[in-house]
Amino acid sequence: MEISVKTLNLETVKSPCLVVGVNDKRKLTDSAKQIDTLSKGFISKLLRRGDISGDIGDSLILHDVPGIKSERVLLVGCGKTNEITHQNFQTIITNASSTLSNANIKNAVICLADLDSKVLSNSMQIRLSAEALHQNNYRFSELKKEKSPSLVKVTLHFADKKSAAMKKARLAVQIGNAIGLGRNTARDLGNLPGNICTPTYLARQASNYDKSYAKLKTTILNQKEMEKLGMGSLLSVSRGSRTPPKFIVMQYSGGKKADQPYVLVGKGVTFDSGGISIKPGAAMDEMKFDMCGAAGVMGTMVTVNELKLPINVVAIVPSVENMPDGNASKPGDIVTSMSGQTIEVLNTDAEGRLILCDALTYSEKFKPKAVIDVATLTGACVMALGAHPAGLLSNKQKLADQILAAGTESGDRAWQMPLWDDYQDQLKSNFADMANIGGRKAGMITAGCFLARFTKKLNWAHLDIAGVAWLEGAKKGATGRPVPLLTQYLMERCGKQYSL
Ligand code: BES
Ligand code: MN
Ligand code: ZN
Repeated sequence: MEISVKTLNLETVKSPCLVVGVNDKRKLTDSAKQIDTLSKGFISKLLRRGDISGDIGDSLILHDVPGIKSERVLLVGCGKTNEITHQNFQTIITNASSTLSNANIKNAVICLADLDSKVLSNSMQIRLSAEALHQNNYRFSELKKEKSPSLVKVTLHFADKKSAAMKKARLAVQIGNAIGLGRNTARDLGNLPGNICTPTYLARQASNYDKSYAKLKTTILNQKEMEKLGMGSLLSVSRGSRTPPKFIVMQYSGGKKADQPYVLVGKGVTFDSGGISIKPGAAMDEMKFDMCGAAGVMGTMVTVNELKLPINVVAIVPSVENMPDGNASKPGDIVTSMSGQTIEVLNTDAEGRLILCDALTYSEKFKPKAVIDVATLTGACVMALGAHPAGLLSNKQKLADQILAAGTESGDRAWQMPLWDDYQDQLKSNFADMANIGGRKAGMITAGCFLARFTKKLNWAHLDIAGVAWLEGAKKGATGRPVPLLTQYLMERCGKQYSL
């Protein structure tokens, strides 16, 4: 889908549909007011009749509105405009977008960046519109005959013609498009089934991006090379699988050569059966989404390359399949990680931390400014926080605060949990330096505590995305989170130039 921003004349523009907003008091937004004036009160008359209330979720298509050249006008409810948040702004755009595609409208002009919100500037409304449109018009139809209609081209109307404002609006649409593309890339990877999206497939995709972007260099380590590096913990997970493990390293050089990079590490378990500690059957198909951390960091690399951010970023994806077979790890097995610390594998289903710990140790070689790992790590995270924020744990409060702020600013939020030493006792083992599980209590935190033992030399944070990476039920599918959060975090490391 092509999305651009322009200042249009609403009287003369010829579009299949103009989209404007009405708030819950039946008050028109500025663009809606203009159309009302041009049509000599056509819209206000409809409002008085009560055809649309203006609540969020409401919409009404009007045909042949007098005084304008466009074929249709879509009125969308915007609720209480002074209480607009990221979440309900996205709902408004999603609602507009679904109404358009259900009516099989392919091209539209959307005039919804004129809400007087306390939290979203008009240029931020442009960015979020682009993001939500890409989000809503995404279809995973590669493997399906039937294709459902979606928008092809959208122009976002931006009324403020002053050059500084317009410059921001253009930047906003550029950011929105880049995040949309990165996020949908992540969703494609997440949605692909385990028999297609294997570690080898992920590695091949990463190498493909390398061809599209001049500043990106991708290297893939195979099993032998991982053995040489002593990644005994990672390799213990892939022992039970017939498909080989891959260790993907994507290096983006947008900054100066000497600039220390930001490192993103993504859990790439392309299917998590649990291994010998096998999972129950219900919803086990969803464990194809256990590489959504990998998808999130790979998608973010696409966005970073599109925006050509002036910093250095490295993405590391340890990728394996967790399966049970005669060669698989058994509960009680002891493995040696790349750091030299030994781990008693009490549950082969706590495999994410076993691959991440070696990837985190590997990341030290880049002397990173910060390392953020992203993983669908624990069911406990889903129990604690549900589907709204990602869980955040960090060994440096300043980094945690930066990530929380990026979450708030982008609308892709995280919530911090305590990474206190008090919890470390739960990982004690009688036979090795640590166990890979910490019992029933505080499962998200003990998983973080495990990783913390491998990041003592790093400025490090961990995002548990088990609750946010995909939707269940009728809307089952990868969400592409946390691409917006990670992008926001990285943009903010470039100074003020990306603030809207
Ligand atoms: N990939 C799962 C976590 C998960 C489960 C995410 C369900 C989303 C939904 C992870 O590898 C896992 O199995 N974790 C175990 C850890 C336990 C054995 C300590 C869990 O959370 O049950
Ligand atoms: Mn598991
Ligand atoms: Zn897993």
